[in-house]
Amino acid sequence: AKRLCGRDLCSIADLTVQEMAAIMDLAHAVKNHPDDFRHALDARQMVMFFEKASLRTRLTFDTAINTLGGNAIFVDQTQSPLGERESLADMARNLERWMNVIVLRTYAHETITEMAACSKVPVINALSDLEHPCQAIADFFTLEERFGSAEGLRFAYVGDGNNVCHSLILTAAQLGAHCSVASPKGFAPKLEIIHKAIEISEQTGGSITLLHDPIKAVTGADAVYTDVCTSMGFEHEATKRAPIFKPYQVNEALMAHAQPDAVFMHCLPAHRNAEVTDAVLDGPQSVVFDQAENRMHAQKALLLMLLGGAKRITNNRGR
Ligand code: CP
Ligand code: NVA
Repeated sequence: AKRLCGRDLCSIADLTVQEMAAIMDLAHAVKNHPDDFRHALDARQMVMFFEKASLRTRLTFDTAINTLGGNAIFVDQTQSPLGERESLADMARNLERWMNVIVLRTYAHETITEMAACSKVPVINALSDLEHPCQAIADFFTLEERFGSAEGLRFAYVGDGNNVCHSLILTAAQLGAHCSVASPKGFAPKLEIIHKAIEISEQTGGSITLLHDPIKAVTGADAVYTDVCTSMGFEHEATKRAPIFKPYQVNEALMAHAQPDAVFMHCLPAHRNAEVTDAVLDGPQSVVFDQAENRMHAQKALLLMLLGGAKRITNNRGR
């Protein structure tokens, strides 16, 4: 896990199976013993450039670095895309002189990979059009808390094969979960992600199944996950998408096909009574606010790993 120091997190696929396990272990330690890490990143500087709106990601990164002794600077890029005023390469060569880590929320995934390629300090993907790795790490941490382990867990994702879906598929594979995805025709997750997930699953015993039928995907599941059908940047497609995604709504009737102790998950913000009903979102199976809380703990673990504040923690899963 020490080797993670100085690296980037653009995609979940940037991590090995062992590194994912180490981040999970550290997230448990950080959540249970926050005082042990109070000064682990003293005086470290984190900058966040966001081209899109955010509540959870922005605030959990800010509180994460602050409770580790470091400092956050937020730059609103919603009005001017990154790379417009000056090149990403020139930005990187400035930032690395002052900053210890760069956190980016972008439209194009390539904005993140290009900044990562140019910068000497770690770059973290805080959501791009392709992936939302920090979300998926927190979500599987939430599942580990609930079920003890994600290995062998039946994880169902219903809806758009989007950024969140991509990162969840890869994380499920790394932790040896069985992932089924039900999406409408034309909205399946990207094949390159599926291929990577299959490759990873061969090491971990996980599996990935692509379906169109939400009932099939959810039957027997331990966790049912959905996200908005129209992500940020796709607003112009909202009216076209709404009827296509109607049969994919997670409601009590769909949840009844899952295990009786199944959890309902959503990254938030939710479009209430669109992709999920109030009854499910606010119901006893919902863990959506645990997920939101865990964004902070998981990102503390990630920052500790990438900035080298986690030296005394070892991976104790025997991987
Ligand atoms: N789940 C999530 O990333 O929320 P925000 O868009 O509010 O950061
Ligand atoms: N898929 C959503 C997630 C928001 C946290 C989006 O990209 O808008």
